[in-house]
Amino acid sequence: MEQIIFATHNKHKLQEVKKLLSDKFKILSLNDIGLYDEIPETGFTLKENASQKSHYLVQRFSQNCFADDTGLEVDALNGEPGVFSARYAGEKATYEQNVEKLLTELKGIKNRKARFKTVISLIYNNKEYFFEGVVEGQILTEKKGNKGFGYDPVFVPSGYNQTFAEINTELKNKISHRGKAIQNLVRFLLSSSK
Ligand code: IMP
Repeated sequence: MEQIIFATHNKHKLQEVKKLLSDKFKILSLNDIGLYDEIPETGFTLKENASQKSHYLVQRFSQNCFADDTGLEVDALNGEPGVFSARYAGEKATYEQNVEKLLTELKGIKNRKARFKTVISLIYNNKEYFFEGVVEGQILTEKKGNKGFGYDPVFVPSGYNQTFAEINTELKNKISHRGKAIQNLVRFLLSSSK
């Protein structure tokens, strides 16, 4: 089976990706390859960060790999937190602190439109490819649900009336930013692999 490194330490993401790539590829996480350091992410766009991470891995491990970067863009906040979503409330902020900051910034604001965007950089046989996924939605005024992670408890995808923290993982994978980006990646990998 072909092996590919996914640049993540995040168990939730790894689970999502393993489900989608099923048994066609053996997915190795950073823990699986014994890389416990944080990979530098110093870009100003999702694309730059994803690319920086996949290049870092290829230089160190010389294996096919992919890296993703995700941001939540809120219209009323001019696209913030965007590329800074993980560090919105500070360098070492928890998911809860980031969500609290977002709710505080949006207090009293009627326009709750937002979207999650994921960019994946894949380096496959020494060539780089990019894949994207977007899901539109709204930010609630308070948290709902306890599944998922990050901003899930306050994000309701368009066409649904539950947050990402309330709907089941399978449905989230189908309609989410990362799910869509991964589906694009999977289509490419399945058509390119032997
Ligand atoms: P990353 O680039 O995938 O690490 O994502 C950056 C930040 O965006 C994370 O720390 C989370 O706060 C948030 N995020 C990414 N994906 C999701 C998701 O599927 N649901 C909710 N929040 C997410």
